[in-house]
This record gives sequence, C-alpha cells and structure tokens, in this order.
Amino acid sequence: MSASDRLAALMPIVIKDDQLHARWLNTFSYLEYVGFRKIIKSQRADVLNRAFLNHALEEGGHAFLLKNMAVKVGGKDFDFYTPESMLAAKAASAYFQNLDHGCDEKFAGVPESERAKIVYLYVTWLIERRALDVYGRYKEALGASPLSAQLDALLDEEVGHLRQVEAGLAAGDPEHATRAPAFEALEKNLFETFVAALAQELAPPPHA
Ligand SMILES: [Fe+2]
Ligand SMILES: [Fe+2]
Repeated sequence: MSASDRLAALMPIVIKDDQLHARWLNTFSYLEYVGFRKIIKSQRADVLNRAFLNHALEEGGHAFLLKNMAVKVGGKDFDFYTPESMLAAKAASAYFQNLDHGCDEKFAGVPESERAKIVYLYVTWLIERRALDVYGRYKEALGASPLSAQLDALLDEEVGHLRQVEAGLAAGDPEHATRAPAFEALEKNLFETFVAALAQELAPPPHA
C-alpha cells in the first residue's frame, strides 16, 4: 500500500473523533505555516518579487484557514502549535526540514545566486503535488461535512502554485526530466516516514 493510500485509510479514524480531527487540522496548518516561513526566508529581498510574496501569503492563508477549522472542531486549545495539539508533530516538522535540506544538498555545486531559486522550485514542486493529493483525499473523506467546501479555495490555490512552479522548472531547468526521479524518490521516502509516525500515533492502545 502506498503511503498516500495508508494516510487516506487513517482519515475516517481521524474525522470521527473531534480531538483527533482538530490535531490533524492543526498539523497541516503547521506545515502550511512552515511553508509560508520558508518561502519568505528562502530568497534575498532583492529577488523576492510579487510571485514569491503572493505564494507565501497564500500559504499563510492556508495555515490560517486550517487553524480556524482546527479551533472550530476542537476548541481554543488548538490556537497554538503545541506538540500535544498536533499529530506526530516531530515527524511533520522533520518531513519538511529534511525535504528542504535534501533538495539543497542535491544542488550543492550550484552557485549561491542560482541555488536559492532552483531549490525553491524543487521543494515547491514536490510539496504542491503532495498537498494536492493529501487535501484532495481529505476532502473526499469529509464527504458531506460542511468543512469540505472550505477546502475548495485552498485546493484551487495549490493548483495555481503547482502550475506556476511547473512553468518555472520548464523555463529554468533544462535537466528537470532527468533530475525529477531522484527528487521524487527523496520526497516519497520522507513522506512514508511521516505517515508511519502518524499511523503509530493513531494505533489503538494494545488491550491489557
Ligand atoms: Fe498550501
Ligand atoms: Fe501551495
């Protein structure tokens, strides 16, 4: 079973319990917040144009939306990113940090001036594809829940980010097709580790 299928199989367990559901939402809010922060920090101010700012603001908006949903479902305790108000908080953070570092390492030989941009493109490309898959499956799992419609604008924006980054890679990296599999493998591996940690946290306690 792929990590994506494994995560989708956990969704009904999460959704039927308000506390778990709020922790889930807060975890993805946290990942969006990390994305927002990383985009802003990834570029020097003299190359940080409207496209970067807009992307960062939209990720900040996703963090805010998912946080609001978490508070609505679980209450005020979810207004902060405390480890106990998330699911597999350490693993969630490690997924993003390791992806960023792994992509950065693969461009170790590229001059500093170009490196920030190409690393941004690859990290974004991998994250947006994963986000679309996870949020798409989460929306399906929500079914007729009123929460489902709240994800529509977020999903539209993630599609926009993916299109933009695909155009950036097509224009800026002639080696994208040959490089892609190694980057996809890196992300797949890190996502599997994250999902395994989530599954472990959600595993019912063994009967005494
Ligand atoms: Fe996002
Ligand atoms: Fe995005």
